Amino acid sequence: MTEQPTRGAGGDGAATDAARELPAGSVVDRAAADARRFVLLVAHTGRADINDIVRQVRQRLAADGVELVGLADEAPALALPVTDGSPVELVLALGGDGTLLRAAERARPLGVGVLGVNLGRMGFLAEADADRIDQVLDAIIGRRYRAVDRMTVDVTVQLDGIGVYSSWALNEISIEKATRERILDVVVEVDGRGLSAYGCDGVLVCTPTGSTAYAFSAGGPVLWPAVQALLVMPLNAHSLFARAAVVGPDSIVTVHLDPDGHGAVLACDGRRTVSIAAGARVQVRRGSTPVALVRLGEEPFTDRLVRKFDLPVHGWRDRRH
Ligand SMILES: NC(=O)c1ccc[n+]([C@@H]2O[C@H](COP(=O)([O-])OP(=O)(O)OC[C@H]3O[C@@H](n4cnc5c(N)ncnc54)[C@H](O)[C@@H]3O)[C@@H](O)[C@H]2O)c1
Repeated sequence: MTEQPTRGAGGDGAATDAARELPAGSVVDRAAADARRFVLLVAHTGRADINDIVRQVRQRLAADGVELVGLADEAPALALPVTDGSPVELVLALGGDGTLLRAAERARPLGVGVLGVNLGRMGFLAEADADRIDQVLDAIIGRRYRAVDRMTVDVTVQLDGIGVYSSWALNEISIEKATRERILDVVVEVDGRGLSAYGCDGVLVCTPTGSTAYAFSAGGPVLWPAVQALLVMPLNAHSLFARAAVVGPDSIVTVHLDPDGHGAVLACDGRRTVSIAAGARVQVRRGSTPVALVRLGEEPFTDRLVRKFDLPVHGWRDRRH
């Protein structure tokens, strides 16, 4: 199975190029102005070389009529104009997976795709490594890309029956003990039915995308992106039955914290974090809004997994030839 394409870039870049050659002030010229193209940049600003990279990207895009704009809190440091709220075609993430997760926060409500160029170590979610940046920019200019929807999760937290927090995640919701030397006592339910009670360091409820992140470190199964499911992953559970569980995409997973136990820290993609009290009830379900990842090529997920984790794929068969 492959990821499901949801939408292409659409439009025709040639129309924009032709419009730019019209005499200034004409009616059609105003239409051309309306057709200005914008790409929003989210970048890893901590890198020493980021300003040079951003300047080159901006110049390359501008040469073909695509304006690179930045976020209010990032643009000045990157010498970029701040977005004025004009519609953007996509969000370009320059950095590692953390930068892409941050870019996804911007792209999701705008309903556009996020395209990652990996400047970091792993960059599992990125579409290309830094040495292919020219091809990436050509594809943006020529609108030669497609976006594939990745499932997200929505989370709500209730305390004494009152909603106290809600958010979403692309990778996972993690619920982890707040006190290092204490165990977290939880009861996990699926669709309102008790599944297991255990003491643990925490519980992850992950999307297929998140199965290669924290859950992977915890020994969980890898879910291919075309799988629609939620992965429930206990962390260091003190129990004879504490297996990873893969439940249907429309199931609701509830994690109850023992009211006589300890509080926890809930994190969405390791970013949006909140303290939750003993007795809290955390519900996780399929997200109402997916995140669209921009893809340029057709690399199968299996190849990406092998490449990123440097998996050995040559064995006895190769020795025989
Ligand atoms: N022990 C662990 O492995 C552990 C602990 C905490 C958080 N995390 C993960 O870190 C994520 C946040 O990433 P970050 O880069 O902001 O933090 P980070 O810098 O702490 O990165 C954690 C690692 O996870 C990788 N990663 C992130 N999302 C991935 C994905 N979908 N598939 C494969 N690898 C992925 C990153 O490249 C990095 O190597 C969280 O969503 C969580 O999954 C992992």
